[in-house]
Amino acid sequence: MLVNQAKITAISPQPPYQERSCSLEEVLSRVQQGEIIIIRDSEFMKEKVQQFNQIAFDSIHKSHPDIELQSWKKLHLYLQGEQLLGINQKINQLTEPFLLQWAKEFVSDFLQYRDRFYLYSDTIVRTFVPYQVFAENQSTFLPHLGTLQLQSPHRDSWGGGFAETAINLWIATDEVSLGNSMLFYPQQWGKHIPLPTAITHIERNHPLEKPLRFALQPGDTLLFSVEHLHSSEINTTEDTRCAVTMRFSLTFPQSPSFDQWRSWYDSRWVSTRWKWLAQARSHFSHAHIGYRLKNQKKRWQRIKNHLQNRFFPQTTPEKTESLNITPNVDLKAHPHVIKIKDARTCVVNTEDGMIEFPRYCPHQGGDLAQGYIEEGKLYCAWHNLAFDLETGKPNCAAIPPLSLKKQIPNP
Ligand code: FES
Ligand SMILES: [Fe+2]
Repeated sequence: MLVNQAKITAISPQPPYQERSCSLEEVLSRVQQGEIIIIRDSEFMKEKVQQFNQIAFDSIHKSHPDIELQSWKKLHLYLQGEQLLGINQKINQLTEPFLLQWAKEFVSDFLQYRDRFYLYSDTIVRTFVPYQVFAENQSTFLPHLGTLQLQSPHRDSWGGGFAETAINLWIATDEVSLGNSMLFYPQQWGKHIPLPTAITHIERNHPLEKPLRFALQPGDTLLFSVEHLHSSEINTTEDTRCAVTMRFSLTFPQSPSFDQWRSWYDSRWVSTRWKWLAQARSHFSHAHIGYRLKNQKKRWQRIKNHLQNRFFPQTTPEKTESLNITPNVDLKAHPHVIKIKDARTCVVNTEDGMIEFPRYCPHQGGDLAQGYIEEGKLYCAWHNLAFDLETGKPNCAAIPPLSLKKQIPNP
């Protein structure tokens, strides 16, 4: 089997965002320039996925002998709530050594990168159940952002402690469909996005565009810089989607600041009997020492604030939301362009007349003014939920409909 035989394409961060073929030798340089790389039909990756699934399914069978899985898709029919959380955590822990070895082989054998590189130590197994199931188990799944709970538009370099040079290796371990995919916003590449207050996602009025998404087969892989703005598509399918993520940097991983630090391994020592050496440099780096000291300082500050609030409480003025209201435009001249009517309302001109709808998405409050219209549906750009413009109903029964006001045009 040829390790590196595969179909490789790349999408440049400049329009028209089309997949073009990419040679194996170009992969790493192109990903560093902001291109999104898609690797399909690789026997090497398919075989690794089979091995990974075997480890995971055997472990599920061991703790639940009546469950024998061949695929991730119907996992939610066998396990719910706490059980699913428990299995997800167990598999995350159990498969970490395998995933690190896989990432090492991917870079050195598949991509044929012969120099030393750095592998971040946290590997992630993401099992996103259909949103309807998620909604029924919200209180259990909600705190587990990225493993059981979908993510909102973000860059991994925000608060994640990843160096800006880090590369995200995202692998489908089962089929990924349009409806439970990943979302990319390539227009945001290289743009300054002010660091949001909730660093797990952009500020809710941040301008967005229609995201890119991919249907993938088991073993298909996405490679992209951690500086790409990306998100999760709300799972409107009937299947659980499983994918794994590892991150690596070809150059020494500089921590973005002392507020953030993440441990990494020197690739030379991963999966060898010297593996204890692999993390040594990361732990003795000035970034880690600075991070520990800063955390200590923050802990003292929290105690101080707590005592201050307890004994000398202060009232803080209410925060007012700053809104970017688009001036009135001639909507008739701009069909299908979503415009802000007022702070809470948007309006769009369609063939059936003008439609007014609430500005913020009933899912997680994404700004529908940054959404897009396609085939009679209004899409929220945050997680790509689609609302029917006739009825206001989303393509997910667990989310309430939008209340629409229609103005029928004069004949
Ligand atoms: S906020 Fe999630 S789809 Fe709109
Ligand atoms: Fe991410």
